[in-house]
Amino acid sequence: MNLEEVAKLSLSNFLAGESDDPLQAPPSFTNWMRQGAWAAELYEPELLASADARTTINYDGKPRPVINLCSYNYLGLANHPEVIAAAQEALRTHGMGACGSPMLSGMTDLHRELEQRVAKFLGREDAMLFNSGFGGALGTISGLLRKSDVAILDNRSHLSLRDGAVLSRCRTGKFEHNDPASLDAALSREKARRQLVVVEGIYSMDGDFGNLRPLLDVADSHGAKVFIDEAHSMLGCGEHGRGAAEHFGVEDRFPLVYGTFSKAFGALGGFVAGSKETLQYLRFYAHPYVYSCALPPVVIAAILKALELAISHPELRAKLWENANYFYAQLHKLGLDTGASTTYVMPIVIGDRGRMYRLGHELRRRGLWVAPVDYPAVPQNRICFRACVTAKHTRADLDEALNILEDTLVPALLQKQSA
Ligand SMILES: Cc1ncc(COP(=O)(O)O)c(C=O)c1O
Repeated sequence: MNLEEVAKLSLSNFLAGESDDPLQAPPSFTNWMRQGAWAAELYEPELLASADARTTINYDGKPRPVINLCSYNYLGLANHPEVIAAAQEALRTHGMGACGSPMLSGMTDLHRELEQRVAKFLGREDAMLFNSGFGGALGTISGLLRKSDVAILDNRSHLSLRDGAVLSRCRTGKFEHNDPASLDAALSREKARRQLVVVEGIYSMDGDFGNLRPLLDVADSHGAKVFIDEAHSMLGCGEHGRGAAEHFGVEDRFPLVYGTFSKAFGALGGFVAGSKETLQYLRFYAHPYVYSCALPPVVIAAILKALELAISHPELRAKLWENANYFYAQLHKLGLDTGASTTYVMPIVIGDRGRMYRLGHELRRRGLWVAPVDYPAVPQNRICFRACVTAKHTRADLDEALNILEDTLVPALLQKQSA
């Protein structure tokens, strides 16, 4: 296989079982990986320090200082000294693991306090915690939907939501990203007694807001309920940081709100907040909750402190947006394509797999760390890098990142246009 052939293939080509042994990887996949090792090296980079605005990764076997536009540490709380101190204290008082499902033995006073603080912050009756954001989304959707239901998902929805719907064995439908007319058509096609529309606050690959108000109006007109995933928008959006629903003034139209602790909270885990009755039901029917160990108390203590800091320091959110607006404007001055992004998550579209991987190496060599995003996470012609701006980036960090992008991407993309 030559490099051009390698670049033509994607993960979607290796789903069929090629041998009689389901525990063996398809030989064609192993061969593809071997031939394309230079590209795969961009994945699972080892972080040698904290997920700060400037950090160090292992690149080519050596420590490489980089400007970090990869981590979701939107407010810089992952490595805040008070967060670290809170975690250290919990480690001393509660030890390391929770050592059990929250149902049986993993619930601690810290978990309970966090449930209450999250519920209060979001103006909800109750909240429950999951040991992963993915598990929280999957568990909530699969715990609430039943075989006779219909889930209608935005076609850019996160896999945790889609997998939750699949697991519930309900019927699923899709609508075109953020398009109310398409949602209207999907809801008209899929008649069922109970329909759930699934949207996100900020779409993790496109970096645009969910088109919440128009989509809610369409759902209302069909009597459908709407579920929102605020993974990337929680703490980062809205006057008080309560997410995209707060930003658009539609919080009271979502009976449940789901988010993760792995993004702006800078930790790990997920949560869902809503009515006491719904959450009481979910506590027994969300498998990732019932049948999996609770988050370690040390993580809970860190999240409690992160929430307190995010509430008491709104200037962090203001700085995040100031940085995002600056970076976005400068990317556009360079003529780079950021797709539909309107937030601190920005794709930089390259559109060609081979070129993206080559440039990805070049960027790391020059000290800029952005995420490679390949098909099927994005459409083939939208293969991109994703840049996440944070409140911790200084103007000097952003300007240096822009210089590197200008020196690396701009000539390569101009070349493409003239080819
Ligand atoms: C929209 C969305 N929902 C859910 C998740 C899962 O969250 P976690 O990474 O905390 O498991 C992610 C993760 O990136 C996400 O982007």
